[in-house]
Amino acid sequence: MSTEVQQAIVGVWEKYEDEEWRKDQSHWRGVGRWKDDARWQAIGQGTLAKFRMIWRHLGRPPFPEPLVALEWGPGGGSNLLAMRRHCRAYFGVDIAASNLAECGRMIAEEGYGDLLRPVLLTAEPHTIAESVTEKLDLFISTAVFQHFPSKSYGGDVLKAVSGLCKPGAIGVVQIRYDNGNEKFAPISEISQYKKKHITANSYQIDEFWNLLRESGFQPIMISDINSAVNYATFYFQKSAA
Ligand SMILES: C[S@@+](CC[C@H](N)C(=O)[O-])C[C@H]1O[C@@H](n2cnc3c(N)ncnc32)[C@H](O)[C@@H]1O
Repeated sequence: MSTEVQQAIVGVWEKYEDEEWRKDQSHWRGVGRWKDDARWQAIGQGTLAKFRMIWRHLGRPPFPEPLVALEWGPGGGSNLLAMRRHCRAYFGVDIAASNLAECGRMIAEEGYGDLLRPVLLTAEPHTIAESVTEKLDLFISTAVFQHFPSKSYGGDVLKAVSGLCKPGAIGVVQIRYDNGNEKFAPISEISQYKKKHITANSYQIDEFWNLLRESGFQPIMISDINSAVNYATFYFQKSAA
């Protein structure tokens, strides 16, 4: 990945000129749309419900504890808050140091200050392997893959995480899907990132399913298709070695 790509992403998620807007876009508790705390907590509660659902679907006993989780792009930490009682370590990988700091502040205020392992992404996705010191049980990413600079970048993220997962680890990842609607078409060059970062990346449904397979995961199901915003949530597990 070029420095230009890294700078373009950091330029939005860390250095955007309107800080209040950036915090709102990063889903900070109590900011902008998220002054409504129930609305903010609903992000994480929805994620937790999805993990419970996939656990039941696979016939696994209710959450064995403690789990090791990794979230790609935790933002203000709504998923972190919801998952706190089920995890003993929670790696938060983010491109923005200020978002990781906010996660740390928020979760310490909730009395779980030891849980978060912040990982600042400063280069290619595979470089996180140096910082993620434990094998993973859970992989979470909501409202992030749509902000990647390319489809292949998302593939690099999946492969990086896959290499860190225990066999049978469960992933829940939300993407924007590409159904030909021009609004959600992926950008074709990085110079478009700042203007189009909200809808920078998307995948056809079968394309993402196959990308999961190519990345060492076994796809299980898809839920929550929302055609207003082209969201879909994929569930998958790490294939046996
Ligand atoms: C819309 S927020 C989503 C926050 C959280 N996942 C949620 O659902 O509330 C997007 C987050 O992804 C982070 N992000 C954007 N691009 C990233 C990248 N390439 N790698 C890691 N994090 C990234 C942003 O800094 C921000 O924290």
